[in-house]
Amino acid sequence: MTGGFLMVMLVGFFLFVIGLITIHFLPLLLSKLNGYVLPKGTFSWPLLGETLSFLNPHPSNSIGTFLQHHCSKYGKVFKSHLFFTPTIVSCDEELNYFILQNEDKLFQCSYPKPIHGVLGSLSMLVAVGDTHKRLRSVALSLVTTTKSNPQFLNDIENTAIQILDSWKGKNQILFCEEARKFTFTVIVKQVLGLTPDDPHTSEILKDFLTFMKGLISLPLYIPGTPYARAVKARRRIASTVKAIIEERRKNSTTASSSQDNTRNFDFLEILLCVDALSEDEKVSFVLDSLLGGYETTSLLMAMVVHFLDQSTTALEHLKLEHQNIRNMKNINDMSLNWEDYKKMEFTQHVISEALRYGNVVKFVHRKALKDVKFKDFVIPSGWQVLPVLSAVHLDKTLHADATQFHPWRWENQEQTCKKFTPFGGGSRCCPGSELAKVEVAFFLHHLVQKFRWRTECGDLPFAYPYVEFPRGLPLYVEMYESNGVVDKKEN
Ligand code: HEM
Repeated sequence: MTGGFLMVMLVGFFLFVIGLITIHFLPLLLSKLNGYVLPKGTFSWPLLGETLSFLNPHPSNSIGTFLQHHCSKYGKVFKSHLFFTPTIVSCDEELNYFILQNEDKLFQCSYPKPIHGVLGSLSMLVAVGDTHKRLRSVALSLVTTTKSNPQFLNDIENTAIQILDSWKGKNQILFCEEARKFTFTVIVKQVLGLTPDDPHTSEILKDFLTFMKGLISLPLYIPGTPYARAVKARRRIASTVKAIIEERRKNSTTASSSQDNTRNFDFLEILLCVDALSEDEKVSFVLDSLLGGYETTSLLMAMVVHFLDQSTTALEHLKLEHQNIRNMKNINDMSLNWEDYKKMEFTQHVISEALRYGNVVKFVHRKALKDVKFKDFVIPSGWQVLPVLSAVHLDKTLHADATQFHPWRWENQEQTCKKFTPFGGGSRCCPGSELAKVEVAFFLHHLVQKFRWRTECGDLPFAYPYVEFPRGLPLYVEMYESNGVVDKKEN
């Protein structure tokens, strides 16, 4: 009896393993049946494939051993099995560009299902087709309106000044924390019109931190796990945003009936008048803006500060640019404006170089909508496709001295080109790119003139693949006195 039971178990297990292996390798057999040539590569282990090696952390200014090994063995485009799916990985400039330009025609944005669970199905980051087009057109018109709001630049500059003022008397700070404070304050003000001391701000920030942790955690919906907490935090943020929307509606009705002209100039004010979006889409839209505008921009700031610490010449050059801009300002109007921003040419080179060398976003997720022939191989319909943006940024055949931080390279180089896509490309290109750059430029303007800094050795930006500084980038800071001499602080 026991022997028979064991036999059945063994046969069952054997069939299960055979089934698993067949399902794992079936896509390869089917693709070969169609007579197409797939890129070289391996599927490796059933189910997991090569996922663990692909996710192996590495400094974000390198492509990591997995890609190094695979590109030298199979070429810049190879097949693999990642995130439980047959995958084509592209480290090729031309193919990446082709994928990004053919969104919704040959390829489509396709983030792993657990991400949908946290972001919600109405999020622009995961929406496809007509829903995505509708959300995106609202996003673009909001960006244009915000940029024309005269208060927009003042808000950014004032926030930068406030953060830097809070460093007075300190000799060490955790830069990533400070940068997040800055970008969160800016985005919450731009989107919802909230100031840091508004009770809603701290409520949203607390939930947002839980939300961010869950976004990059194991997708287990079991009470108490970071993933489950994130899903709940998202619901709470959604209801806070709904409450703010309600308050705003009530206030606008009261204001219009009492002929009150005091109006808010933020995303929300415009968003409330948009008929093309449902109430839930508006809430989701606010969440997307907070999410998109918070972590990526603060990370870019941290990268700039980190790389500048290793390049004294670039830092001196940058400082000079900002001192010149300040010296040319009229004493009656010291606030930065668009004209000043346009003068920040070297600053733009520094930002572009930090984006190229530091790689805030390593890769994006797509899937093939049909069999796509590219050069001499085919990408089968339904396969996952991962254009690795960082691999093109660090490609020695495309960028001279690719493994060096060298902002001057951008003096003679177009910033919108196939070999430089930190904000993605095509119809999904980041709508917040300009906002991010203005934030970094204005923060740098005050930072380089007020402080000298030194990073602690060894804290590098790491790609997990979500990039972060493991220790939060501790900085030793010294404030300049107004005559340019470093102010030695008591503690
Ligand atoms: C350094 C800063 C930033 C970087 C490196 C960055 C990078 C990116 C990338 C690579 C994409 C394309 C994703 C894909 O193709 O799947 C993207 C999309 C997006 N970003 Fe950003 N981003 C930054 C800042 C911002 C800011 C400040 C905002 C908002 C205020 C924002 C909002 C968005 C949104 C809503 C999308 C989705 C666009 C769509 O699917 O049509 N991002 N970003």
